[in-house]
Amino acid sequence: MKSYQKLSTDVSRISEAEEEGADGKPLCHQKLSAWWLGGGLLTVAALLSGVTVWVLGQIWWDQHGISYWSKCTSVPENRRFDCYPEKNVVVTRELCESRGCCFADGEMPLDRINGVPWCFYPPDFPSYTLGSTNETDLGLVGFLTRETKTYYPKDLEKLQLRVEFETDSRLHVKITDATDPRYEVPLDVPQATKRAENPLYSVEFCKEPFGLIVKRRLSGTVLLNTTVAPLFFADQFLQISTVLPSTFLYGLGEHQSNFLHNLEWNTLPLWARDVPPMESYNLYGVHPFYLLMEKGGAAHGVFLLNSNLMEVALQPAPALTWRTTGGILDFYIFLGPDPNLVVQQYQQVIGFPAMPPFWGLGFHLCRWGYGTSNKTWETVKAMRNFQIPQDVQWNDIDYMNGSRDFAVDSEKFASLPQMVEDLHKHGQYYVLILDPGISSVQPPGSYWPYDEGLKRGVFINNTEGKPLIGMVWPGFTAFPDFSNPTTHEWWLENLKHLHAQVPFDGLWLDMNEPSNFIDGSTEGCSKGDLDNPPYMPGILGGSLSARTICASAKQSLSVHYNLHNLYGLMEAKATSRALVEIRGKRPFIISRSTFPSQGKYSGHWLGDNQSKWKDMFWSIPGLLSFSLFGVPLVGADICGFSSSTSEELCIRWMQLGAFYPFSRNHNTQFEKAQDPTAFSPAARTAMKAALELRYTLLPLLYSLFHRAHLQGDTVARPLFFEFPKDEATYAVEKQFLWGRVLLVTPVLEPGADSVIGYFPKGVWYDYYTGSSVNSSGESLKMAAPLDHINVHLREGTILPTQKPGGTTWLTRRNPLTLVAALSQTSTAWGDLFWDDGDSLDTFEKGDYSYLVFNVTQNTFISTVLHSNTEATYITVDKLSVYGVREEPKTVTVSGKNWPFTYLANQVLYVNNLQLPLSQGFSVRWM
Ligand code: GLC
Repeated sequence: MKSYQKLSTDVSRISEAEEEGADGKPLCHQKLSAWWLGGGLLTVAALLSGVTVWVLGQIWWDQHGISYWSKCTSVPENRRFDCYPEKNVVVTRELCESRGCCFADGEMPLDRINGVPWCFYPPDFPSYTLGSTNETDLGLVGFLTRETKTYYPKDLEKLQLRVEFETDSRLHVKITDATDPRYEVPLDVPQATKRAENPLYSVEFCKEPFGLIVKRRLSGTVLLNTTVAPLFFADQFLQISTVLPSTFLYGLGEHQSNFLHNLEWNTLPLWARDVPPMESYNLYGVHPFYLLMEKGGAAHGVFLLNSNLMEVALQPAPALTWRTTGGILDFYIFLGPDPNLVVQQYQQVIGFPAMPPFWGLGFHLCRWGYGTSNKTWETVKAMRNFQIPQDVQWNDIDYMNGSRDFAVDSEKFASLPQMVEDLHKHGQYYVLILDPGISSVQPPGSYWPYDEGLKRGVFINNTEGKPLIGMVWPGFTAFPDFSNPTTHEWWLENLKHLHAQVPFDGLWLDMNEPSNFIDGSTEGCSKGDLDNPPYMPGILGGSLSARTICASAKQSLSVHYNLHNLYGLMEAKATSRALVEIRGKRPFIISRSTFPSQGKYSGHWLGDNQSKWKDMFWSIPGLLSFSLFGVPLVGADICGFSSSTSEELCIRWMQLGAFYPFSRNHNTQFEKAQDPTAFSPAARTAMKAALELRYTLLPLLYSLFHRAHLQGDTVARPLFFEFPKDEATYAVEKQFLWGRVLLVTPVLEPGADSVIGYFPKGVWYDYYTGSSVNSSGESLKMAAPLDHINVHLREGTILPTQKPGGTTWLTRRNPLTLVAALSQTSTAWGDLFWDDGDSLDTFEKGDYSYLVFNVTQNTFISTVLHSNTEATYITVDKLSVYGVREEPKTVTVSGKNWPFTYLANQVLYVNNLQLPLSQGFSVRWM
């Protein structure tokens, strides 16, 4: 009989955690006892119910003397861990038993259709055993060994387990080959030097079979328990499962899925892929990170630092299985305890996002198929003509000569340099698209990027050591290897040449999964294990080379098999450095493919959506997921990329898009124009109003980005981040917050003149009027005429706003209005980060202003905590206070009597202040 032991006392400081699980049984024994009890009872029941003959036929006795039948049926359905996850295989009893697994015979096919595995691990399926462990400065190190082989080739027989108590809220668990180094993700992660003193977690192990149990100390909640299924660590198949303390699971991207994941036998594949977003497919980016809300409102997060093709299987136990096809098992566990802290702690590992330039938060306009620079310019002029705010004009691949990077079509885009000059004169900016594929077909000597790239060896090679050739927009292409520092130099030089022709301000990195119109290469891919791994997660196309390059392709750092998911990240890193070198200002980059730590270099748009109401909805779970992934600069193509938009949809989408942290209207070629000037006067007016609202709110948005950059706060924020104890917020995905301040409730349906939104308990103020509603934590119906988006201010907040201009450049000079939304105890606070909006590292260099606003005892106080010259250029002109219960008799401004207006809906306005932002002041009402 196998023994399930608790780790012996040599690491007692580590395993000192509670003896018992939630049901009072020791965790390491839990599996064993459930097994006996359930199996025994079921056996008796089966015998009595007359199926004895059938059952006896199935029985065999395993090494423990427990019948196959009872040991298999003792596993409750929701705890069946799939032993045959291979896709497109009809799993027979024979196949299943050849793996030593339990086959669910005699069940209704319906169960199987519902996703319950037919073939699952018996409780005693062989796994690794933990040998003795040694304490290290940060935790412990031990070895895991296995005696039997699994059914995948190249099991690693001896593994090293390293557990590090990195901080009180961060645990690091790394399992890798004990003898030979394996591929590890080249991410700059922090190295702890001192063991955490008061960790929020405790760690226990089961020795045989090996299992890891992580608990939250305070509540005893079991966050991870990997004893529930065997550990696999073969060369190309690594698998570890855990039960979860709740079903409130978020993250794990990139997918088009509900924000709150469905755990009913739902498998999420992760592999960077060019495909218009569709449910259940792997999309452009890869983020192996989840956040989970525990009962009672605490949250934790888990990050698997692994860049290989993988999938995450979710099941209703609730439980989760990581299956990856390479690398190592490198986990970070973040204890929060609130969700904001979890994502901050995650970003402490992957890096905080870059501070965007202020103009990057303005409105962006783009389409594929302007066709000429004159046409593009006309659109800009039309926007100016109607005084619709616009900061940035973009061009898609149609600016290129023959769709080739770094080559401008000198006929159709002859006026491009003048257009860009004109943009700059108007305080506007210009962004160009770049695709990684470099055209390889032109005669030698005619295209520097390819010729020079060849010379310097910057391209990804095939297994024969020659540049791998695929096909993208220009035809045959080679793919730069951004894992090679030489490629960064070559990329920079190309960008310098391009910038000398067209002084672009930002770059749009598309097709960087990398996308390839031929699967693999012109010559196909190898027959080897890299292109055909023994286990294939359920990705779209069923093959690693589907719409990308061969996994066996050679890059300077490793094989593409390992680096595929990092392509967009590495390209963004090279581009970010190049932009800094070329412009000396903050880089503005939007990338389609992303990986953890992407936020350091770029933002993201959600890809090729459609002009459909449903797609507009999907953008909100998309935004919120990327907020968790540390990529706050995110948005979807406003009004939809492909298919035709309608005026109504586009108005609603412009309203919602005004609240995307990255706000861009983009359209595919051959579709009707969908920029605001293309619609009726009424639609145009509504769109203009939405954008003016955005521009009004930019001081808040910018300050939120500062906090994201500083410490990893989210910008577009899920409601439950602010109300973690309110379970009714856990599934909200049709609304979101900006920071802790604004609640956005867009209309997502056609023909609506009202909208229902959930309002967590507390007072909420209509942003426009200051009228309040005191919610008990309820859904409320609000009027939502076509020209209106519902926005509410949360009680206790102070919102800095600015009179909108046609660009952020103009807006930034305008006076501020501060809006205080009083709490039920008549207090509020807010802040403002302000700098020149474009220089590098202003915060790091101390070249910024930072102000804190407070209301207590009927007094609004502005305190300057840090100042620079920027704050001397603007004034505070107006103070609006929402929720002033009694009409004041007097108002004083820094001691002097001041005129004011008080409205019946408890709103106080104090106008014409003209106070310099750079000096503290107070406004008092009595
Ligand atoms: C890809 C991009 C899309 C772009 C098009 C042409 O489909 O996702 O945004 O317009 O390529 O470059």
